Amino acid sequence: MIGRRLEGKSAVITGAASGIGKATSERLGAEGATLVLADINFDGAKITADEIAQKQNVKTMAIAFDASDANSCRSMIDEAIIARGKLDILCNIAGIMDWGPLADFSDARWERMININLSSVFYICRHAIPHLVESKGNIVNMSSASGLMGLAYTTAYCAAKSGVIAITKSLAVEYASKGVRVNAVCPGGVKTPMTRDNPIPDDVDKEMLMRHWPKLGDMAEPEDVAAAVAYLASRDAQQVTGIALSVDGGQVLG
Ligand SMILES: NC(=O)c1ccc[n+]([C@@H]2O[C@H](COP(=O)([O-])OP(=O)(O)OC[C@H]3O[C@@H](n4cnc5c(N)ncnc54)[C@H](O)[C@@H]3O)[C@@H](O)[C@H]2O)c1
Repeated sequence: MIGRRLEGKSAVITGAASGIGKATSERLGAEGATLVLADINFDGAKITADEIAQKQNVKTMAIAFDASDANSCRSMIDEAIIARGKLDILCNIAGIMDWGPLADFSDARWERMININLSSVFYICRHAIPHLVESKGNIVNMSSASGLMGLAYTTAYCAAKSGVIAITKSLAVEYASKGVRVNAVCPGGVKTPMTRDNPIPDDVDKEMLMRHWPKLGDMAEPEDVAAAVAYLASRDAQQVTGIALSVDGGQVLG
């Protein structure tokens, strides 16, 4: 039974068309939050928004935006504020995965990974923070086990996700006295379209990768990660800021 801890709260969730972003939207909606769901895949975000509005008694809307573009991130937050009048919870979840041996990883692939997975979090937080100071709200950023440990063939992804933790901790310190909490979640492998559509490439050492399989045995469901986001976004976590919460079945234990 899910409680309605987020009644009256206004949330923006990026990456809401799919996977963890979609599950987080469903969870925050079930807990009573009003939702603005942003994704480059507008049709997908709209489907998530419509499904939640039908099931839960909450307002939802979808916005198209490109997380890698600073102006688009700014417009997305502006649009959310115009629609809702305030922002209490910001969940930065949109992201992409691309992996392969370092020597073959082009500049374009590196830039795409950093722009979508890391620069986006900077752009969105920068524009959202005055609104969160006003509401004494909070941010939950989606990092990864890859942000906490070395993982072969994922140099760009690891760099971006470590950077997300660095942004999280810096903002947590900078804004604690203004009443804004900032946290990150670090999933291990999660059963989403991202892992389905990016299978381990053939030309890598699979044994090296499998050493980091979750100790609890299976990959997580998106709902497992969504539950952690909902906790951090809620008053239950009012003394929690600057953490990188692992939801990885023990993957980073080594
Ligand atoms: N699936 C995993 O195993 C796993 C593990 C750790 C961390 N994560 C992180 O969780 C987040 C969600 O991943 P997921 O597995 O749900 O993936 P997913 O592919 O199912 O969903 C990602 C969403 O981000 C959106 N997106 C991609 N590029 C975008 C852009 N430029 N602008 C706006 N939206 C964009 C996609 O349209 C999609 O809806 C990502 O940040 C990912 O790095 C995933």
